Amino acid sequence: MSANYKHWRYASDKDHLVWLTFDKAGESTNTFSADAVAELVAILQEITAAKPRGLIFCSGKKSGYIAGADIKDFAAAQSVEDGMAIIRRGWDMFHTVAALPFPTVAMVNGFCMGGGVELALACRYRVALDDPKTRFALPEVMLGILPAWGGIKYLPKLVGPTAALDMLLSGRSVDARKAKRIGLVDACVPLRVLENAARMTALEARPPHRPPLAQRLMNSAPLKSIVASMAKKQVARRAARAHYPAPYVILDLWARYDGDPFAPPLDDPASPAALMQGETVRNLIRIYFLQERMKALGKTSDFTAKQVHVIGAGVMGGDIAALCALRGMRVTLQDQNAERLAPAMQRAAKLFKRRLRDKARIRDAMDRLVPDTAGDGVRKADLIIEAIFENLEAKRELFAALEKNARPDAILASNTSSLRLADIGTVLARPGRLVGIHFFNPVAQMMLVEVVAGANTDPTIASQAAAFARQIDKLPLPVGDSPGFLVNRVLGSYLNQAFTMVDEGLSAETVDAAATRFGMPMGPIELADTVGLDICIAAGKSLAAAGAAAGRAVTVPKKLEQLVAAGNLGKKSGRGYYEWRAGKAVKGAPGEVSEALIERLIAPYLEEAQAAVAEGIVADADLADAGLIFGTGFAPFRGGPLNYLKNQAA
Ligand code: NAI
Repeated sequence: MSANYKHWRYASDKDHLVWLTFDKAGESTNTFSADAVAELVAILQEITAAKPRGLIFCSGKKSGYIAGADIKDFAAAQSVEDGMAIIRRGWDMFHTVAALPFPTVAMVNGFCMGGGVELALACRYRVALDDPKTRFALPEVMLGILPAWGGIKYLPKLVGPTAALDMLLSGRSVDARKAKRIGLVDACVPLRVLENAARMTALEARPPHRPPLAQRLMNSAPLKSIVASMAKKQVARRAARAHYPAPYVILDLWARYDGDPFAPPLDDPASPAALMQGETVRNLIRIYFLQERMKALGKTSDFTAKQVHVIGAGVMGGDIAALCALRGMRVTLQDQNAERLAPAMQRAAKLFKRRLRDKARIRDAMDRLVPDTAGDGVRKADLIIEAIFENLEAKRELFAALEKNARPDAILASNTSSLRLADIGTVLARPGRLVGIHFFNPVAQMMLVEVVAGANTDPTIASQAAAFARQIDKLPLPVGDSPGFLVNRVLGSYLNQAFTMVDEGLSAETVDAAATRFGMPMGPIELADTVGLDICIAAGKSLAAAGAAAGRAVTVPKKLEQLVAAGNLGKKSGRGYYEWRAGKAVKGAPGEVSEALIERLIAPYLEEAQAAVAEGIVADADLADAGLIFGTGFAPFRGGPLNYLKNQAA
């Protein structure tokens, strides 16, 4: 064993197998930074010279296998040459691994992302730990880049283009069991046999996995270009090439150059260089770092919720409780009677089934979620989340009673979307323990959670609430206790503008087309129909009341009022601004969409975002951008509304 390496260590066993452990010095996660790659290249030479019977790549981290390249390197790349040099580094190294003359095994013990998958692909075999935390993904496309260290070349060859393109173009992860089903790993085994499975795989050295014949054919010359052009059509439905070039470059590089990033000339649209010159990469990488910043906001407290009590099993409370149980907390869910609890329990069962896919794990999650009409859970909980209907008096009464029964150290949280925490907190002897944890609908999908600190909220409690948000994998955004907080305030003014434009005579289709042309994932009118027009009008009224109090003139959109009065509430009632059939809005062709129209639609959004920052509702413009991207879906490739304004001005 050589001791000259900082990030790697290796040992030989009695079978003459080498176990090479990646254990990035000073970090909790393994990433392929330049120095880690350089060391690996040197180690591989040493190992090759020793002529072992096989080589097993392991991770020295408890938290996972390998997270991929170090994104900081990409962010620091100043030119196309810098970018291509980073690609060259990994590409060459993984070719060295793929060419090793003895069996190689990746023993994957947790998340395995980007370059981690590419290392696994360069190995002859892959063995994975059967655990929900073992996930494989090539998320590069989400950063506007591509898996150019061999992912585009080798993944389609190993699992076939259907499964490979799904991963390459969406960035979505697959768990260990799915990885086994699609052929990405050769074995998926429990921890107690993981090492042995890796050892046996190396010693047996069976013929490597190949996908079925049909998939092999799709990966060969004549069919490849047809598959790629069909996939391009699908991609085009989700993202325009001008906004998100990466999936198109991935397809071109695969179909025309067999995934070799150095094969196309630099000015070919299939070259990775095509991505490096654009704004999109910079903005998407910026969002990645903002996301990391939000995650860090949840690390300022070591609070961990073990027992959560949720009151109100409606749309929000039911799903919040389910999510907590999914993440391992014990949860009691309270409502007025058992009939109100039943639909929430059913939705929870569906969520567990979809996410856990394993009978024992689903049963354990169901066991952790306890219906509790009597409210017995209040006394035991370390976190109590209120999600009853939006009524100040009802919430006040509830919190007054809760304070008497709850543990003295329990956090009291409200999911209110429009009431002021300061107003709710007046009934408490210790208002400092009341914090807002504002979720978005649908709870399981929306990544953002606004953590609302009222004038009296103890900062420690706000930090604990942010830590809880991370526990359930959400991104916490600290916001001030002001009407609509950040997200609903900005969204409210944007929707209001859209409704006004329809009142003035534009079709819903035209307004929505203006938004999607700008890069919003969904138009504002379709969004309003999806959320429910009754909810929009209620939220609008409460924001309007705050606006009127601040001296702003407010008019309620006419058509919105008429639709709600007639019971046309949008998707849920089958008719709103659009007619809804089988869960889809029936749309006619949009009218002409000019730049001026887009600007007019988007202007109130941008103004309100600026105002919220100026008023200190969020700490700074970067966090506002992050909150609005994750809370409203603001065109990610533009890097957020304030970043967009800054770039416009530059
Ligand atoms: P909902 O009307 O679907 O559910 C409220 C539930 O609370 C009902 O099942 C009701 O029986 C129960 N409830 C009422 N008073 C109770 C009491 N004293 N004890 C126990 N249970 C009681 O309401 P939804 O939509 O889930 O909203 C709940 C809260 O979340 C509100 O404050 C709302 O402003 C907020 N919110 C709602 C969002 C949405 O999109 N629906 C988004 C974000 C926040």
